[in-house]
Amino acid sequence: MIITADALPTSLHYSRLSDEELTERILRRKADLNAVILGHNYQRSEIQDVSDYVGDSLGLSQEAAGTDADVIVFCGVHFMAETAKVLSPEKVVLMPDSRAGCPMADFATVDAVRRLKARYPDAAVVTYVNSTAAVKAESDVCCTSSNAVRVVESIPAGRPILFIPDRNLARYAAEKTGRPFLTPAEAAGAELNVEPAPIIAWEGYCYVHDDMVLHELDRARRAHPRAKVVIHPEARKDLLEQADVIASTSGMIEIAEQYDELIIGTERGLIDRLQERFPNKTIVPLSRAAVCGNMKLNTLAKLAWSLDHGEHEIVLDEEVRRGAESALRRMLELSGGWRAPTAEEADLELAGLRPSSCGCA
Ligand code: 13P
Ligand code: SF4
Repeated sequence: MIITADALPTSLHYSRLSDEELTERILRRKADLNAVILGHNYQRSEIQDVSDYVGDSLGLSQEAAGTDADVIVFCGVHFMAETAKVLSPEKVVLMPDSRAGCPMADFATVDAVRRLKARYPDAAVVTYVNSTAAVKAESDVCCTSSNAVRVVESIPAGRPILFIPDRNLARYAAEKTGRPFLTPAEAAGAELNVEPAPIIAWEGYCYVHDDMVLHELDRARRAHPRAKVVIHPEARKDLLEQADVIASTSGMIEIAEQYDELIIGTERGLIDRLQERFPNKTIVPLSRAAVCGNMKLNTLAKLAWSLDHGEHEIVLDEEVRRGAESALRRMLELSGGWRAPTAEEADLELAGLRPSSCGCA
């Protein structure tokens, strides 16, 4: 890609420009390149403001698969940009900061996944999109936080599932579908020839959600006893049991439109943004410490630098890309392409009301 004539040498030089100057540069260069900016719901507010589309992992992957832009600049973490490249291989996919990774994705390596597959050759491999493209290529189908239950339901009930890499999402999907939940150690001596067959969960987790604890929720509830409690399925079982609604990040935004008082269990950035959008509502973070430092590595200055220099470009081995694509396409087929949820679907999302809440035992 051609570097612009007025490009500055490093992102540090860009950080000396005002937000207005950076925004103007970003929009100009975006038009010149026929680029689209995709931003995750956890991105800084100023990045979301210049993004063409802001959403959750499912919405972003659907957007990446359908865009007619020549260049995709992905403001999120590495696995999200990789997913865009897998689905749109003919496009240039850029990341403002190549160090923005997802620690949960790093829990699963290809060698370790192959070892588990060799132990359970009849099992289906369901992989959360928070994983590397190489691990997706080892999988039968991917899922996101918004369609994990639907994806698990698509696997024949008698077939065991290896669920990679999020143990909390795996447990949630197991509870919702009535499958037994096993760790790899528990699975070693267990009878797997049962129906429904178990989910054997990888022992990965998201440090942001896994660190949220019950006493933080209790404190928030004491202060806001009438608030709807909305929690992301990457959180632990004991928290999910207390939720009124369990939802993906975009699902949380839809729910926030409907209620005036909410306690939200996810990354702080999304909650602060919701409070800005709805100043008359009370929107309380379940945990004030829940910040994803990886998502916050992207800044307006790095985004401007990325567009001007055509960096950091995602490059994938073609065999890996094709393997990952079939697992992702299978997921997208089950998710019906991109469309806004119907009122009926939004109601179903709310059907996890207490006391049975998420369905966890
Ligand atoms: P969503 O797909 O719900 O946006 O989740 C992505 C993620 O990384 C949450 O931690
Ligand atoms: Fe990964 Fe957790 Fe950050 Fe999401 S919030 S990108 S799962 S570390």
